[in-house]
Amino acid sequence: MAYDQVWRKDVELLNNVEKIKLDRDGLEVIEAIIKKYSKYGFDSVPEEDRILLKWAGIYEQKPKNGLFMLRVRINTGKINVSGAKVLSEISQKYGRNFMKITTRGAIQFYNIRLEDLPDIFNKLNSVHLASYEACGDCPRTVIGNPLAGIDKNELFDTTELVNKVNDFLLLNRDFSNLPRKLKISISASTKNAGNSEINDISFTPAIKKIEGKEVIGFHLKVGGGLSTKPVIAKEINAFIAVEQVQKVIEAVATIFRDYGYRNNRNRARLKFLIEDWGIEKFTEKLYEYTGVLPTKGIDKTEDCSYINYYGVNPQKQKGKSYIGVHIPLGQMNSADFNELAQISEEYGDGILRTTSCQNIIISGIKNDKLDEVLSKEIFKKLSYQPKTILSRIVACTGSKFCNLALVDTQSIALKLSKFIDEKLEVDVPINIKISGCPNSCGHTNTADIGIRGSIIKQEGKRYEAFDVFLGGKLGQGATFGQKLDLRLRENELIKAIAKIIEQYLAHRKDNETFHNFISRVDARGFLT
Ligand code: HEM
Ligand code: SF4
Repeated sequence: MAYDQVWRKDVELLNNVEKIKLDRDGLEVIEAIIKKYSKYGFDSVPEEDRILLKWAGIYEQKPKNGLFMLRVRINTGKINVSGAKVLSEISQKYGRNFMKITTRGAIQFYNIRLEDLPDIFNKLNSVHLASYEACGDCPRTVIGNPLAGIDKNELFDTTELVNKVNDFLLLNRDFSNLPRKLKISISASTKNAGNSEINDISFTPAIKKIEGKEVIGFHLKVGGGLSTKPVIAKEINAFIAVEQVQKVIEAVATIFRDYGYRNNRNRARLKFLIEDWGIEKFTEKLYEYTGVLPTKGIDKTEDCSYINYYGVNPQKQKGKSYIGVHIPLGQMNSADFNELAQISEEYGDGILRTTSCQNIIISGIKNDKLDEVLSKEIFKKLSYQPKTILSRIVACTGSKFCNLALVDTQSIALKLSKFIDEKLEVDVPINIKISGCPNSCGHTNTADIGIRGSIIKQEGKRYEAFDVFLGGKLGQGATFGQKLDLRLRENELIKAIAKIIEQYLAHRKDNETFHNFISRVDARGFLT
């Protein structure tokens, strides 16, 4: 560790997690798992280390019975076939055949036992994958453009850059004790593929004339995030050359580490520091580390809010296509995932790509092989042309495995989808995002229709209930959905969402998006 813990001077003000981290870096828990906890079981894990298990990429799942959720970092959503086969094997051998794609394109397993972790770590290591720091107060999976390298809409292929940044940050003791998580997005896609507004540090595509030459680089946003107090990231007036990206990340992470709040954990994310300082002061501090950066160039991002990538689409490589496949709620079994990996190996470029809408892309298919690929059995189960509302729904882990959940997000997603599909023909891509609590892991706030789990008390009893948010979006004019002044039980919710969509379909103007419709009308009127 090559820095001083400046926060040591006021130890009594630190929150409880910080007090634990003072004397033990979260990364130390990895060795303890391998050498001790995996051998002697969960009871051998002291209370302090139970908090730090996240640094190894594991969370205690619900019910707290000694089983874990394990998250594997997938940089920019790209997994090569050897990695995919290992992930499938882990799911089959240790995770009861189940795996889930997360809203940051990571792969998650459930029901993992402590005793199996050394073997899992070795397997991941053998294919250059890691669960380390996929959770915890550290730099998380670096997200970006899942189409990197094949995208007609990218300024350049960001794969190498993302991997370089990941390799710099992963297991780096200079940044493994941050006040809270640090989410980074690097994308050169003009379609806002990296959800730039809701990450702590986001690089978005830009160009600038420097000394008469047009240079490709990035614009920079900082301090975005969802959760109980969602904030849209703020732009810094800077143009970042590709070679400067790592230096800028190092600077922001250092500022966050040394100035971020360590007393109240609910105000520990970077967004709170930036809100208090203002973007000017933050920029000044940043330039103390990086030197003054050139001012902004030309922004190359179009207005886009979540891409589903479904269907057969042309790549930038002539004669090749990618297939966007719907993975219902991001959940699949190991055999299906393996099958997709095999198709990629046999017909494609050997890469599977995960998306933040919890789907998978198979890339590099020669156009003259498309018919053969599309006739495979697996696509009868996992559609590449999904028509259901379920294909527009994202849902967080929910009460099946998450200790913080107030509702079962998966079950409501299925019921909602069934009801709407039977009742309505929805011809536009409205997105619906469901989270089981205010933490908003399912991106509730930025959805066309956001649903948030809650509790309602009626006649002295507590019931699962839901809050509804309408008209959120990412991209230009990114905004959070407006919360309706209602809290609904399950049946009421399903009918209300159907009613809202029905009203939109009946009263939208030509090509009016759901977001624009909600901005124009008073949605509360629909439900009275
Ligand atoms: C204080 C507690 C938590 C907060 C504030 C929180 C907040 C969030 C937010 C805002 C996201 C959005 C993803 C994005 O940035 O794109 C996220 C992602 C996620 N959260 Fe949570 N979360 C918390 C705890 C949990 C727990 C307990 C679980 C499950 C056991 C969980 C599971 C997930 C998953 C699976 C993702 C996708 C993440 C990834 O791939 O990196 N979260 N979380
Ligand atoms: S939103 Fe809440 S319920 Fe859903 S995974 Fe996150 S913490 Fe758990």
